[in-house]
Amino acid sequence: MRIFLTCSIKPEGAKGEKDIYAEFDSKETIDDLADAIKSNGHEVEILNVLGDIKDKLNSKKENIDLVFNVAEGLVGEEREAYVPKLCEELKIPFTGASSWTAINTLNKGRTKEILNKKGIPTPKFRVVSDSEEDLSGLKFPLLVKPMFEGSSKGIFNENLVHDADNLKKIIKKTIARYNQKVIVEEFIDGREFTVSVIGEKTILPIVEILFDDLPDRLYPMDSYEVKWEHDSPESIEKKGYDPIVCPANIDNKLKIKIEEVVLATYKALKCHDWSRIDVRLDAKGNPNILEVNALPGFMKNPKENSRLPKAAYANRWSYERLIGEVINSAIKRMLKLQENK
Ligand SMILES: Nc1ncnc2c1ncn2[C@@H]1O[C@H](COP(=O)(O)OP(=O)(O)OP(=O)(O)O)[C@@H](O)[C@H]1O
Ligand SMILES: [Mg+2]
Repeated sequence: MRIFLTCSIKPEGAKGEKDIYAEFDSKETIDDLADAIKSNGHEVEILNVLGDIKDKLNSKKENIDLVFNVAEGLVGEEREAYVPKLCEELKIPFTGASSWTAINTLNKGRTKEILNKKGIPTPKFRVVSDSEEDLSGLKFPLLVKPMFEGSSKGIFNENLVHDADNLKKIIKKTIARYNQKVIVEEFIDGREFTVSVIGEKTILPIVEILFDDLPDRLYPMDSYEVKWEHDSPESIEKKGYDPIVCPANIDNKLKIKIEEVVLATYKALKCHDWSRIDVRLDAKGNPNILEVNALPGFMKNPKENSRLPKAAYANRWSYERLIGEVINSAIKRMLKLQENK
């Protein structure tokens, strides 16, 4: 097949806020992905999505069999839906989230509303656009997160607050810095897992994120400081201890419980081909869904500790096999659609 790889490549020597390009991929990551697509027997062309690509896609339409989409899109609350929407309009098959799924998973509030409707457990929350809003219905400690980000962007250690004054302060700061609503969530401090689903229902070995070697100043959560500083690949190599464990050390009963809520979530958000779903246990030990990553990280190098590839390797899949499975899942859907026409 002729595959068009739509992506968002980190500009070289990018300057600005430290987390501004947190969600973009390096050239190396995209090259690894392109090589994996090729090694599955396909032709590949890379397109870095920097602006409007509609004309380009339209002019190439006859020569594209599939878009492999990992682009973050352009700007705004629906950015991850940019390429899916174009492909839907132009009727070009593509991998991963539909525009509906991309919009509803990038929006943490919408995701949780959908989960609530389906009776899938998720921490109690409120969507907030003003620091003066009355949040007395929520129990401290509370975590303040930007509504439309990923990669722990905007989720700093100080965003976990224990009193009303700090809550107001962090809400104000986050809204001003990220220019978007925030979501205020009750903090549940049980074990944390992240679960990768491939195709329609293949669950890869569960990844656990351990917080047991954090210094006292850092709260037990995957904040920006923890994910990108304390548990950075360099720091893990230096300390010789990897807090990202796969497969997680859990009994079968818990494994089944987690897998059940994860699959229900995958279905509720109508995910396709691949996704990584974050789970944390509440005080009763029940798995709660934190969020859905319908465009999961996919760094090949095991040193990078990218969670979905890590789960694939624990399943004895090569990187090439993982990417092949995603492509095959998209092809299967494409064929089903054609049959139903
Ligand atoms: N309600 C909560 N209770 C406890 N911990 C939470 C809660 N919400 C988020 N966290 C912690 O903060 C981390 C980041 O939150 P979340 O997964 O929502 O952000 P993200 O930036 O979208 O992450 P990703 O890197 O997966 O895209 C979680 O992995 C978890 O450790
Ligand atoms: Mg997450």
